[in-house]
Amino acid sequence: MSQAPIRRSVLVGTGAALPRRAVPNDEMAKMVDTSDEWIVARTGIRNRYIAGPDETTSSLATAAARQAIEAAKLNPTDIDLIVLATATPDQTFPATATIVQHELGCHGGIAFDVAAVCSGFLYALGVADSMLRSGMARRALVIGSETFSRILDWEDRTTCVLFGDGAGAIVLEARESTDPDAPGILASKLHADGAHNQLLYVDGGPSTTGTVGKLRMTGKEVFRHAVTNLADVLREVLDQTGLTSADIDWVVPHQANQRILDATARKLNLPAEKVVVTIDRHANTSAASVPLALDTAVRDGRIKPGQLVMLEAMGGGFTWGASLIRI
Ligand code: COA
Repeated sequence: MSQAPIRRSVLVGTGAALPRRAVPNDEMAKMVDTSDEWIVARTGIRNRYIAGPDETTSSLATAAARQAIEAAKLNPTDIDLIVLATATPDQTFPATATIVQHELGCHGGIAFDVAAVCSGFLYALGVADSMLRSGMARRALVIGSETFSRILDWEDRTTCVLFGDGAGAIVLEARESTDPDAPGILASKLHADGAHNQLLYVDGGPSTTGTVGKLRMTGKEVFRHAVTNLADVLREVLDQTGLTSADIDWVVPHQANQRILDATARKLNLPAEKVVVTIDRHANTSAASVPLALDTAVRDGRIKPGQLVMLEAMGGGFTWGASLIRI
């Protein structure tokens, strides 16, 4: 008896966009009491990109989306689903995804935002994958885009040195195959625990203060939770697929802190060479960091067809998650 075909969401293109202005650590040291040495030693960050007044979450997202569609050899009108992860939307409503949809010229499909802060891209990926596998859509743009510079307290050295702006995008296409090794998203796991709101949050919002607010963080506590939660969720995804960390070709983690990347890799016995690192160049770009890092490693030829790639992230909420993809 022949095997029933499995429907999977296949990665067919990636793209990225960064603001024009690069801000190295030395420039940060002119704004707050900090130094290149401190930032590099504690975080691995050397540089970040900061959006100018004409660069918005939607404009960065649109540029990244165009690249991803081009890499997939598709037209914008082929896209029938846009899921955009952001904590810094252009407007309180409508969803930034609808602005991107209009800019791309692909009207009539589904478009909405997902809010899970730094895990936003993993959440958006999970939602898009479910919708593609259920048949609600055929080709999805999944975007992470942020202008965190707009919600930073530029007088708080404990947070403003850590973040940057940018966008990353991927195109997923639903394909059916009877081959168990066919490409596509193999497994995903998402979590949230709202008990930790006060460790990482923005002190404003339309229904509370009526202002946008600024990011507040207790860094040490976030660090501790991140290492534990990420190692746990990576193990969960591996268990779900019957694979081990030795089977993984690349880990593309959320880029929050080099020490979190190192500690998580150590917990899972993953050699550092398998971890894609862009934190030095981009800093923490929240929902954009995973697709920015993924695009970097696809375009420089490290990530190749047939390989197994693990994406993972943890962020405010807390929220966290991981997804295993065969390219
Ligand atoms: N420059 C210089 N000194 C700084 C500084 C800066 N930018 N920021 C903080 N300091 C100082 C502190 O005031 C403190 O000084 P003190 O000892 O005199 O009080 C000292 O450096 C150590 O601060 P601490 O907060 O204990 O450092 P840390 O080793 O925990 O590193 C973070 C701070 C924020 C880099 C680290 O906790 C972290 O990365 N946490 C996770 C953050 C994260 O991932 N957030 C996003 C999740 S999505």
